[in-house]
Amino acid sequence: MSSFWIESTKNIEKNYDKLTKNLEADICVVGCGITGAIVAYYLTKEGKNVVILEKDKICEKTTANSTAKITSQHGLFYKYLLDSKGAEFAKKYYEANENAIKNIEYIVKNENLDCDFEKQDAYIFTQKQDDIKKIEDEFNAVKEIGGNADFTTSCNLPFNINVAVKFSNQAQFNSRKFVLELINKLDKDVNIFENSKVVDVKKNGNIYNIFTNENCIKAKYVVLACHYPIINVPGFYFIKMYQTRSHAIAIDADTNFFDGMYINSELPTKSFRTVKSGDKRLLVIVSEDYKTGSDINYENINNNLEKIAKEIYPNCKIKYKWSAQDCISLDKIPYIGEFSRFMPDVYVATGFKKWGMTTADIAANIICDKIMERENKYAEIFKATRTEPIKNIKEVENMLKQTAKSVVIEKFTIPKEDLEEIKSGEGKIIVVNGKKVGIYIDKNDNIHAINPVCSHLGCELVFNRLEHTWDCPCHGSRFDIDGNSIEAPSIDNLDKIELN
Ligand code: FES
Repeated sequence: MSSFWIESTKNIEKNYDKLTKNLEADICVVGCGITGAIVAYYLTKEGKNVVILEKDKICEKTTANSTAKITSQHGLFYKYLLDSKGAEFAKKYYEANENAIKNIEYIVKNENLDCDFEKQDAYIFTQKQDDIKKIEDEFNAVKEIGGNADFTTSCNLPFNINVAVKFSNQAQFNSRKFVLELINKLDKDVNIFENSKVVDVKKNGNIYNIFTNENCIKAKYVVLACHYPIINVPGFYFIKMYQTRSHAIAIDADTNFFDGMYINSELPTKSFRTVKSGDKRLLVIVSEDYKTGSDINYENINNNLEKIAKEIYPNCKIKYKWSAQDCISLDKIPYIGEFSRFMPDVYVATGFKKWGMTTADIAANIICDKIMERENKYAEIFKATRTEPIKNIKEVENMLKQTAKSVVIEKFTIPKEDLEEIKSGEGKIIVVNGKKVGIYIDKNDNIHAINPVCSHLGCELVFNRLEHTWDCPCHGSRFDIDGNSIEAPSIDNLDKIELN
C-alpha cells in the first residue's frame, strides 16, 4: 500500500519528460519533494532560470510519506536545544520554524493552492508518570526563549493523558497536494524532468556539470534537495548522520475524530493527526521508528500500530499503510547551506529529523538568500559544514562499530540456511558456491538473487521482512528485491546474480 498522500493525489499528478538533451540554467535543483519545490518557487520569483531533476516521479518519497504536520514543536526538543546549544540558538530555531509556518500559509494563500491546509494546535503529551517532569522542563524551556506555549492537563484526545505542552496556531495539510499544486503553477517557468537520476556533479571553471546517465545540465549553482546528498566525497555526510524508518496507518472509524496534532514523549511513540478524505476524515497514526537496516522484529511494527488504533476505536478499518525514511544528524540539527567548502555554489538541505515541512521552507529561504547574496539570520545555526556533530564521539563510534560489524564480522559468517529452507515471500543471505548471495523467493516461486554487499561502501545488507527490501545498516541505503537502488546514499544498483 502507498501513502494516503500519494493515493489521494493520483488525479492531479502530471507526467514530466525525462531529460533527453543538454541544457543550461542558473540553478539546477536535484530532487523534487517539498524542499526542491519551495526552493524552485523562491528562486523563480527572483527571476532565476531553474531546472529541476527528479530521479523518480515528483514528490513520491519523503514528503509523500510524512505526517505533513507544519509545526515548530519537534517532539521534546527545546530543553535539549537550551542545554546543548544555549538560549540564543534555541530562540532562533523556534523563530525560524514559526516563520516557516507563516511562509507556507502565505504560499498556499498567495498561489491559491488547494492542499487541505488548516490551522491546528500541536501537543506533546505523556501518559506516563515518569515523563511529567520532562514535559514540565520542555514547557519551561519554551517559555525561557520567549516561545508561545501552554501547559495543560487536558486536550481533545479520546483517552486520558497526564500533562501536555500545547503550541497554538500550527498547521497541517496534504503535503503531496501542496507540492504538486505548487509545481503545476511553476511548470511554465521552470524546466522540470522526471525519471532523470543525477549520477555525478563535476565543476568546470565557474560552472557545474550535473550529469544524468545520458545528458548534462550546466549551471552556476546546484541545490541538493534530494533527501540524502548523492555526493559522498567531499561532504562526508554519511559519517555525519544516520537514517531511520517509521510506519504509519490511516484509519476510518465512522466517527468524528478529534482536532489537533499530537505526539507523546514516551515509547512506544504515538503520533496522531486527521486528514480530509472526501467528505469524511481519517486518522493518521504513526508509531516508533528504528534505524534503517536493523535486524528487528518487523512483524511487531504493524501489530503495534493496529493495537494503538483498536484500543481507541475497536471497529476501525485500516485504509492506508505506509512507511517513511528520515535522515537524522548527529546533533539533531538539520544541515542546510553550503555543501562543502571544496564545492562552492553547491547547496544542501538534509538531516530534517522527521520535521521536514517547516524545515523545507527554512532551507529554501537560506539557500535562496545564499544564491541572492543576502544575509539570513538563521543560516549560521543550520550551517551544513559545521564540524560539531562529528565531535559527538559516542554517536560516531556507534556508527563505525556498526560499519565494522557489517564489513568484517558478518561478511565471513556462513549462514546455516540453504536455498530449500527459504519460503515464498522470504529473503535470506545464503552461501552458494562459496559466495554469499542474497536470495528472495517471490509468491510465484521465482528466485531473485543479488550480491548482498551495499554498493555505497560495502556493508552487508539486511533483508527487511516487512517491506521486502535489502537495507543497509551502515548509512541506510535501500534496494528492491532485484537490487535496484531505492534510497540513497547509494545511487548504484546491486550486482544481480545468475543462479544455475
Ligand atoms: Fe553506506 Fe551501505 S549505505 S555502506
